Amino acid sequence: MPTPENVVVVGGCGHVGLPLGIVLASRGLSVSLLDIDAAKVETINSGIMPFREDGAEPILKQVLGKTLRATTDPDCLRSADIVITVVGTPVDRHLNPTVHELYRSLDNVLQYVQDGALLVLRSTVSPGVTKLVYQRIRSLGRDIDLAFCPERIAEGNAMEELVKLPQIISAFEPAAMRRARELFLTIAPTVIELTPLEAELAKLFTNSWRYLNFAISNQFYMLAETYGLDFYRIHDAVTREYPRMRSFARAGFAAGPCLLKDTLQLSAFSGNNFFLGHAAMLVNEGLPNFIISQLRQVDLASKRVAILGMAFKGDSDDIRDSLSYKLKKLLEVECKEVLCTDPFAPDPELVPLDEAVRQAEVIVLGAPHSVYRDLQIPSGKVVVDIWNYWPERRRDTMPTPVTVAAGEGRP
Ligand SMILES: NC(=O)c1ccc[n+]([C@@H]2O[C@H](COP(=O)([O-])OP(=O)(O)OC[C@H]3O[C@@H](n4cnc5c(N)ncnc54)[C@H](O)[C@@H]3O)[C@@H](O)[C@H]2O)c1
Repeated sequence: MPTPENVVVVGGCGHVGLPLGIVLASRGLSVSLLDIDAAKVETINSGIMPFREDGAEPILKQVLGKTLRATTDPDCLRSADIVITVVGTPVDRHLNPTVHELYRSLDNVLQYVQDGALLVLRSTVSPGVTKLVYQRIRSLGRDIDLAFCPERIAEGNAMEELVKLPQIISAFEPAAMRRARELFLTIAPTVIELTPLEAELAKLFTNSWRYLNFAISNQFYMLAETYGLDFYRIHDAVTREYPRMRSFARAGFAAGPCLLKDTLQLSAFSGNNFFLGHAAMLVNEGLPNFIISQLRQVDLASKRVAILGMAFKGDSDDIRDSLSYKLKKLLEVECKEVLCTDPFAPDPELVPLDEAVRQAEVIVLGAPHSVYRDLQIPSGKVVVDIWNYWPERRRDTMPTPVTVAAGEGRP
C-alpha cells in the first residue's frame, strides 16, 4: 500500500481548518493541524472540539493520534506533501481587505516546505491574491504547485457539507489542478474547475448574494413594522405555495465573520462601486438601531433589557462580529441595564437565562438557539422577536410602530 500523503493544515484549529482536517484524516490521509493558538492545540489533542460543530467531536476522537494531530511546531511542514492554508483574512478598520496575516503565514510556510509540495489556499481571499502568491513562489525560484480552493461550508454544518457539496477548485498549472482534484475527490462527490480569479469571485459572489438576500428581508421587515404591520403575515402569504419566493429569507441579524467581510472584499475589488453591497450593509447593520427606535416607545430609560443569544447565529457559540453585541452597546446608552445571556458563548459577562428573563422587562431575541424554542416568558414583558421564533408571542407584546409620517400610505 502507498504511504498516505502528509497534509498540514495551517490555521488548522479554526472553524474551517479543523473540520476539514478531521474529514481528511477520516479518509486515511495523515493530517497535522498547525496553529499558533497553543490552547486550542491542547484542547484538540485531548479530543475536545474548541467550538461547536455538529458531529465533529466523535470523529475527532476516532482519528486523533492515528491520522490526526494538532501542533504549534512548524517543523511538520518539512515532510508535507500538501499544505492547506486557512488563516483568517479580515478587513481592517477602514473596511479594506487585509492579507498581511495570510502573506506572513505563507512566507513562514515557504521557509519550511519542500519543493514538489502542493500549496492550497483555502481562506477567502481578495480577487487577484492567488496570482500574487503564484508570482511570489515563482520569483523565489520555488517549485511548489499552487491551487485556490475556497471553503463554502456554513459553520455548524461543516461535517455534513464538506462531504456533500461540490468543491470549487482552481489553479494556474494543469499539474496543480490535477493534484487539487485528487485531494478534494477524497472527501467530496464532485469538483468544479475554474480559473483562480473565477474561483475567488465565485466565493465572494456566494457570500455577498446571501448577505444581499438577508438585507432584502430585513429591509422589508423594517418597512412593514414601521407601518404597524406584521412582516411575517406578509412573508407567509407570499411564500406559501409560491415557488418563485422560496428564497425569501426570514428577517434576522445577518452577521458573523464572513458575510459582511466578503461583501466588503467584493466592494473593494469593484473600486467601491458595489452599490448593492453597501446598501445591504446599511440595512443589515442598521437592524439593531431599528430595534432601539421601536423600543424607545416603552420608556427604555427605565427598563432592564435582556438579550437572549449573543452568538452571531442560532445554535452557534461564535460571537465574532455578532450584531447582538452591537445591540448591547446601543442599549447600554439608552436603558437602565442590559442583561446578556447565551448557553454557548465564551463571554464571562453573561448571566444565566432564568435570571435574565426574571429581571428584564424587555426581552430581545438576539440569536434563535433551539434551547429557547419552548422558553416560558412571564406575561407583561415586552418581547422583540425579529426572527419570528415565537410566532404566537411576538404580535401580542411587540411595541407599537415607530413613526409614520402623515400621508405615507397608512390605511
Ligand atoms: N468560518 C466560516 O464559516 C468560513 C466559511 C468559509 C470560509 N471562511 C474563510 O476561512 C478563513 C478562516 O476562517 P475561520 O473562521 O476558520 O477563522 P478562525 O479564526 O476560526 O481560524 C483561523 C485559525 O488560524 C490560526 N492562525 C492565525 N494565524 C496563523 C499562523 N500564522 N499560523 C498558523 N495558524 C494561524 C488561528 O489561531 C485560528 O485558529 C477566512 O478567510 C474565512 O473568511 C470561513
